[in-house]
Amino acid sequence: MKVKEDQLLVIFGASGDLTSRKLMPALFEIYRQHVLPSHFAILGVGRKPYTTEKFREKVVTAITRHTSTHENSDQHLAAAFAGLVHYLPLNTENPEEYHVLAEKIQWLEDSYQTGGNCLFYLATPPGLYEVIANGLRNNELQHHPKAWRRIIIEKPFGISLKSAKALNNHLLNCFNEDQVYRIDHYLGKETVQNVMVTRFSNGIFEPLWNRNYIHHVEITSAENMGVEDRGGYYDKAGALRDMVQNHLLQLVSLVAMEPPTQISADAIRNETLKVLQSIRPFTGEEITSHVIRGQYTASTVRGVHCNAYRDEPGVNRDSRTETYVALKLYIDNWRWGGVPFYIRTGKYLPAKVTEVVVHFKPTPHRLFCFNENVQNADNQLVIRIQPDEGILLKFGMKVPGAGFQVQDVNMDFHYADLAQKNIPEAYQRLLVDCMQGDATLFTRGDSILQAWKIVDPILNEWEKNPDIPIYGYPAGTWGPIQADNLIDGPNMTWRFPCKNLSDDGKYCEL
Ligand code: BG6
Repeated sequence: MKVKEDQLLVIFGASGDLTSRKLMPALFEIYRQHVLPSHFAILGVGRKPYTTEKFREKVVTAITRHTSTHENSDQHLAAAFAGLVHYLPLNTENPEEYHVLAEKIQWLEDSYQTGGNCLFYLATPPGLYEVIANGLRNNELQHHPKAWRRIIIEKPFGISLKSAKALNNHLLNCFNEDQVYRIDHYLGKETVQNVMVTRFSNGIFEPLWNRNYIHHVEITSAENMGVEDRGGYYDKAGALRDMVQNHLLQLVSLVAMEPPTQISADAIRNETLKVLQSIRPFTGEEITSHVIRGQYTASTVRGVHCNAYRDEPGVNRDSRTETYVALKLYIDNWRWGGVPFYIRTGKYLPAKVTEVVVHFKPTPHRLFCFNENVQNADNQLVIRIQPDEGILLKFGMKVPGAGFQVQDVNMDFHYADLAQKNIPEAYQRLLVDCMQGDATLFTRGDSILQAWKIVDPILNEWEKNPDIPIYGYPAGTWGPIQADNLIDGPNMTWRFPCKNLSDDGKYCEL
């Protein structure tokens, strides 16, 4: 498959981390697979005074460092790919400089015959989104009489409902909604898209996928690293803004949505929006009982010292920013009335793992309740987003021999067993989709605002009421113990996942 429409890609923030870690490796992969359109070029725009030659060298280094391509042939290919890349030093905060950008774009369009289609990727700090959008509009770069213009922005889309609204309004002053592509890289993950496929391409799940058969749903996104060198950003954000407002609420929407009428950007995004609109708002009291926040403290994991969050570079010494958050939420609609959704995310937990666990209700009459193993067993469907991507179904099976001893067994599928083992990186998929004008996996403005409406009351309450506890948890553990009490039901607890999908509830290597 090849992108049909010729185009120019302009990356703002070209000398930054996102460009070298994610964008260039993804673009290179797209190039290697011959997916780029016939007439295509990249213009990197940044503050640093590189020449195009120097920038091309950096592109090759980034590709070598951040992809698994070490062979000589790949080096040649990386150099050939870098030949498509140009660089323009520009202070985007100076409105006077945009005419230079306009001239450069015109020159590249003529040289590469890209036909006027242009994709602007803002890989910059969010403080520049409005400035750049303005600069593009004031120089009439946001539209073209005979071609399309699109803009991609990265999260964070604001830091509160108010700032997100302001950003949205501003962008929509410069571009139309259908020109704006807001990246949530979780939606670009193959396994996240598979949530929809699992649900809507299999007759067996849909009849069970509701309050009659599902007891609760659990979503975990755990990381086994601290904030590393992002303390400055993270201390102002925290886990709720960094992970829940976007990635985790999008995951909840995909798990809970109604079937879309068709696979199209608006049909799907209308359904995910309805889920967000149905999430019961958190009231003051619930914020204490249904939301648990934590912060990692110093510890030693496998003989290695891990800093306390407050000792990380860029972090305030008496910071009350959460590095862990667990929530219990309800979706007040016909399908999900009364079914709790538990979601949690945190830095410095024991494993890097993201998964959805659907817990089914037990049988109405427990024939085998005399069996100790089955006492608390529920059927579980585990949709593993990463790593060891796959699906696992847990159910009870008779132990061979006399009597009716029942034990839990796993039925599992691992992506690694597919003949086509290569799971494309999220950025590859998202870039290609945007080049083709497919907005399905990008978050729409209304959905972002709706997600802020869910987390804003929590953030406000935390700010207003410093007595709401923030629990310390030693780095390398599963977060504050108080989060375990969120889960209702006798002997119910979170699943404690391991690196491998099918190992849990027992010793495992993390
Ligand atoms: C980013 C967050 O959006 O997602 C990071 O800002 C987090 O703090 C990252 O580490 C996690 O993404 P992934 O794909 O590694 O699960």
